[in-house]
Amino acid sequence: MEKIYAKITGVHGYVPDYILTNQELETMVDTTDEWITTRTGIKERRILKGADQGTSVIGIESVKGLLEKTNTDPTEIDLIICATTTPDMVFPSTANIIASGVGAVNSFSYDLQAACSGFLYALATGAKFIESGSYNKVVVVGADKMSSIIDYTDRTTCIIFGDGGGAVLLEPTTEEVGIRDSILRSDGSGAEFLHMKAGGSRRPATVQTVEAREHFVHQEGATVFKFAVTNMADVSAEIMKKNQLDAEDIAWLVPHQANLRIIDATAKRMGVGPEKVMINIEKYGNTTSGTIPLCLWDYESQLKKNDNLILAAFGGGFTWGSVYLKWAYNG
Ligand code: UT7
Repeated sequence: MEKIYAKITGVHGYVPDYILTNQELETMVDTTDEWITTRTGIKERRILKGADQGTSVIGIESVKGLLEKTNTDPTEIDLIICATTTPDMVFPSTANIIASGVGAVNSFSYDLQAACSGFLYALATGAKFIESGSYNKVVVVGADKMSSIIDYTDRTTCIIFGDGGGAVLLEPTTEEVGIRDSILRSDGSGAEFLHMKAGGSRRPATVQTVEAREHFVHQEGATVFKFAVTNMADVSAEIMKKNQLDAEDIAWLVPHQANLRIIDATAKRMGVGPEKVMINIEKYGNTTSGTIPLCLWDYESQLKKNDNLILAAFGGGFTWGSVYLKWAYNG
């Protein structure tokens, strides 16, 4: 029997309308546009405003657009996986809400949590369902409403994160395109450096946890930066070596958008020039699970069939990884 590969047959993204600029942040915390730009590369980020607007809004808009542009009937979708760190609720899963919101009434759906590496974990997982031959249409969503867990009095985190996300459709092919390989890693000893203290089963919400501002992202930036630079660069170099790929074989590096300096270090380690690196951090900031699908969406028109892409991410957990794929269509 011929080997089945999972190919991406479409990508679509969604970002909310509200733009939170560095200039507005200057009025909220002790920071400057110059500091944010030089230390991170971010100029602005999007914020999902309004009551009862959760991550599912981003997911539903992304998937609706995806189904429309790929001419896919929602009832044909077998599975929706939503990578998110900011689910609408603890339960049910945001993927359940997205499935219902887009009319994917025949699909099963679940969330996957791997912080900023979530989309890569979900993409690799979704591909396995296709490669098994059991399923034909799998939607992988990466979406986060980070503004719901950001302390807008903490200048070390509020300048980084934004809201947004995107989705891809995976379908089977026997052509040698699609997801070719993945290397995924985690190390829970990194939890102390990047986490949200309260709101989980260990420390449920109380008046005290709210007063102590424990329902917000806690990040020890410099330590996370050190691990991110090393691990994202190492795992990207590792997947190239494993697949006998040289820098000239790579059409695009698609990095998680956490900090321009981490992206530059990863590209340098791979020997890939800046013209081959997808970057949109300046307009969206770090949207956690959303960064990689938002990059693919922004650059879709420049992608060509058989382009070799290396996707790479690092995030809370710690989690990190890389995916090697061959793009399956001309954008
Ligand atoms: O996506 C998930 C994984 N997360 C990441 O990959 C993020 C990794 N970390 C980073 O990107 C960087 O560490 C940050 C952007 C978060 C911070 O940049 P940094 O160059 O590592 O700065 P730092 O934390 O070492 O702080 C340097 C100085 C400090 O002042 P002192 O102690 O030297 O006087 C901070 O208080 O910069 C200060 N600082 C700021 N100054 C102006 C921190 N945030 C700000 C700010 N504006 N927003």
